[in-house]
Amino acid sequence: MTVLQVVVAGGGNERKDQEKEHYWSIYSDQLTKRNATIFHNWAHRVALEKLLYPESASTTGSNINLYIDQAAALHKAFLHRDVADSIPMSTENFTDIATMSSPVSVSMARDMWSTLSSCEHRREVVGEQKACATSVESMHKFAVSALGTSGLHAFSTSLDVPEVGISSPSHIYKVVAVRAVTAHGANKEASNTVTCHSMRFPFALFYCHAVNPTRIYEVTLQKDEDSLVPAMPRMPAVIRALAVCHVNTSGFDPTLNYWVKLGLKPGEASVCHFLTRGDVLWTPASVA
Ligand SMILES: *[C@@H]1O[C@H](CO)[C@@H](O)[C@H](O)[C@H]1NC(C)=O
Ligand SMILES: *[C@@H]1O[C@H](CO)[C@@H](O)[C@H](O)[C@H]1NC(C)=O
Ligand SMILES: *[C@@H]1O[C@H](CO)[C@@H](O)[C@H](O)[C@H]1NC(C)=O
Repeated sequence: MTVLQVVVAGGGNERKDQEKEHYWSIYSDQLTKRNATIFHNWAHRVALEKLLYPESASTTGSNINLYIDQAAALHKAFLHRDVADSIPMSTENFTDIATMSSPVSVSMARDMWSTLSSCEHRREVVGEQKACATSVESMHKFAVSALGTSGLHAFSTSLDVPEVGISSPSHIYKVVAVRAVTAHGANKEASNTVTCHSMRFPFALFYCHAVNPTRIYEVTLQKDEDSLVPAMPRMPAVIRALAVCHVNTSGFDPTLNYWVKLGLKPGEASVCHFLTRGDVLWTPASVA
């Protein structure tokens, strides 16, 4: 079976098939031209820019335009480890992977491409270590090798972070408490950690990476009732979210709008973001 047949296997009318063919041609072009990376960077950046905060935002009393990404695939099952380990998570093997999970919808095929190209993409940030993991064991193995210790703690963000994420356009959350998960004490010493993001895929797949050193905080945020913009009723009143702050940002993309907004260059400020429901954070047991 060709990939196109796999993608189309869900059935549908001619127009839909043309649409599928269209998507397929876009993605196969990207693959053959070896510049899927450019596409990925672009897509990644559009999605991520608003998720970035300076570390000063994690200070009690500050107001924050809270953005937490939607959980990508919280309820996807893990493949059996033997199966997962037998197929490289690469666009080269898209056909095999798509066949395993067929029928695949157009949007799922698109997500699969995007996820697989992130997995094989060259490092986004200078000095980044990364791996895609399709089993808990391989996630743990990467964390052990990246952190150089087998004594690890795993954290996930609290259940009051909604699966759909949070998008608050206008300062409606106030930071009411900050607890250092790592970086205790007066010096707030940074440490090495690994974050595994759950990705859109037909089965559980984590994009694990380490951009170190980091400081990790548990930030309690409260809906600001005095806010000019009425709070959206479906947003929870209090959220405890995990924030990861990357301390050495000199390898970050200098064209990010984040730097423009702050009037700074990479390396001149840390970059923080909140974890999404379903993400897994690994720290050496000695620091948390
Ligand atoms: C990908 O590369 C081809 C040529 O190698 C180029 O024509 C095309 O514009 C590139 N795509 C993007 C998104 O940059
Ligand atoms: C993965 O793709 C490569 C290149 O097309 C192929 O040689 C290899 O057999 C594939 N692996 C599996 C397990 O299908
Ligand atoms: C910060 O990161 C850059 C690029 O990865 C590296 O060259 C530099 O040595 C790092 N600085 C410190 C203080 O670790």
